[in-house]
Formats: sequence, C-alpha cells, structure tokens
Amino acid sequence: MEKIIDDLTGRGWSVQEDYFPPDLIAELQRDLELNRAAMTQAGIGRGENLKVRSEVRNDVTLWLDGQSGAQNEYLRLLDAVRIDLNRALFLGLHSIEAHYALYEPGGFYKKHVDSLKGQRNRVVSTVTYLTKGWRAEDGGHLVLYDAAGHELTRILPLSGTLVIFMSEDIPHEVLPPARARCSIAGWFRCNP
Ligand code: OGA
Ligand code: MN
Repeated sequence: MEKIIDDLTGRGWSVQEDYFPPDLIAELQRDLELNRAAMTQAGIGRGENLKVRSEVRNDVTLWLDGQSGAQNEYLRLLDAVRIDLNRALFLGLHSIEAHYALYEPGGFYKKHVDSLKGQRNRVVSTVTYLTKGWRAEDGGHLVLYDAAGHELTRILPLSGTLVIFMSEDIPHEVLPPARARCSIAGWFRCNP
C-alpha cells in the first residue's frame, strides 16, 4: 500500500503485479465467463446520456453487484484500498463501482479520461487483469499518457496485476488484443 500511495502522490499512477491472489483471479475469470451472456456493449457517459459508441470502445461489460463469493471478496479487497487511500491522502472517497470488461480480439478503447476536470466524481481509477497466461505478443496493452499527451507507460494486462491512477489526470487507451482480454475496471468516487 505504501508504494501505491507514493506512486499516486508522486506521479499519479501505480502498477502492482501479482497484487491479488491467483485463486481469486481465477474465480473472477470463471465468474465473468458464467455471466458472459449478461454482458452488454459498453457505453460512454452516464444515465440518460449513456450512448454506445463502438468507434470509441467496443468492449462488453457487466457491473459487479456482489452476486458471487468472488465478486464479494474482490469488492471487499478494493474497499480496503479505498479506506487506506482516504487515510493517507484525505481524498474523501465514499464508494466503489466496478465492472467486468471483455475485449474480443481486435477490440479497443480509444484514448480517454475516466473523469472530466472539475467534476470530481470518479477520483481514482483501478484496473485488475484476469486472463491467465498473457504474453507480450497477445498485445492489449493499457497505455497511460500525461496531460500533455506524452506516453508514460505501456502495461501488459498480466493476470493479477492492479493498475491504479488518478482519474482526472491520466488519459489512457486500450490497444487491440490478439485474444479475449478480461479485466475489472473500477472507480473510487466522492460525492459530486
Ligand atoms: C476503462 C479502461 C482500461 C483497461 O474501462 O475505462 O480504461 O486496461 N480500461 O481495461
Ligand atoms: Mn478508462
């Protein structure tokens, strides 16, 4: 946790390999597969403004609602991170939302920010990767940028890795994978 806090305060992003237990990651992957039929084309925006824009992103998603043991355990671990961040950084994060995401081969999510400046709604973004045995040639990197648009890093979606970054400050993009790429994207929010 110390490393995450240092990274977030120093540069706004952190990558932690093998952050979650492999058994939990495997259970989450299985849970996603069991719920595959319920996953729907991801949208942009919220509420009434939610629109499917498959030229921007073409993954399918499903909100975690704690309906399985694996989901509950994952949300519990993420909540512990939220509480630690509040304690260290006084961010006033009051809730979590998280969804499964599946990118089919060739899928993508073009460069975007998860939260618009000043909105202070989604404050911290998290991504956890689920698909076992990911290799460099499978692609599907998450690319992080700074505010000026310079590339900061390229992260291979290795199962068990947690990526965490400040939602307003880090534009990012998902490059097309060569095989199905499963993850959980999540956000810590504060009251708008
Ligand atoms: C997102 C997102 C990154 C990833 O869902 O907003 O940026 O690596 N996901 O899956
Ligand atoms: Mn994003």
